[in-house]
Amino acid sequence: MILGTGIDLIDIRRIVDTLERHGQRFKDRVFTAEEQAWCEKRADKAAAYARHYAVKEACSKALGTGMSKGVAWRQMYLSRAAGRRPRLVCVGNAEERLKLLTPAGYRALLYVSISDEPPYATATVSISAIPEDFTMPEQALP
Ligand SMILES: CC(C)(COP(=O)(O)OP(=O)(O)OC[C@H]1O[C@@H](n2cnc3c(N)ncnc32)[C@H](O)[C@@H]1OP(=O)(O)O)[C@@H](O)C(=O)NCCC(=O)NCCS
Repeated sequence: MILGTGIDLIDIRRIVDTLERHGQRFKDRVFTAEEQAWCEKRADKAAAYARHYAVKEACSKALGTGMSKGVAWRQMYLSRAAGRRPRLVCVGNAEERLKLLTPAGYRALLYVSISDEPPYATATVSISAIPEDFTMPEQALP
């Protein structure tokens, strides 16, 4: 079953501006060390940060909280393992909210999709729940 969906569209130029004005302070407030390391390696760093930013906003909408109720940027992040698609992870209050949404006997799966076409970046997040004892094919897991 679907527990939530969220979408965000961001103008990459806004991120360029924020990076110029606030630099590392902005990066540390919004992005995990792993996300920063990834973005810093991209040719277009601002676009990479914008895609991650869009994921966080989309996730906060899928959770139904926005950036409120203690849910904050670094609690929703993209984790990357070699050769795998990026995985969205919720920790802290975002994870607690996810638990609150998930019916007993189910586990939540977070699906993320990301794109950009400068000057815009966009992301969608869907939260799905499957019975705890349901076995998913490895390839179908987010
Ligand atoms: C929802 C949120 C995550 C994003 O809002 P936003 O970027 O200002 O606005 P967007 O255009 O992307 O989204 C607005 C839509 O989100 C939806 N929305 C608002 N609150 C929501 C919530 N709690 N859950 C799910 N969807 C929500 C609404 O449909 C809204 O449109 P509407 O006002 O026409 O109904 C907002 O709660 C937020 O906290 N933004 C943080 C912005 C911020 O702190 N910026 C600082 C820069 S470092």
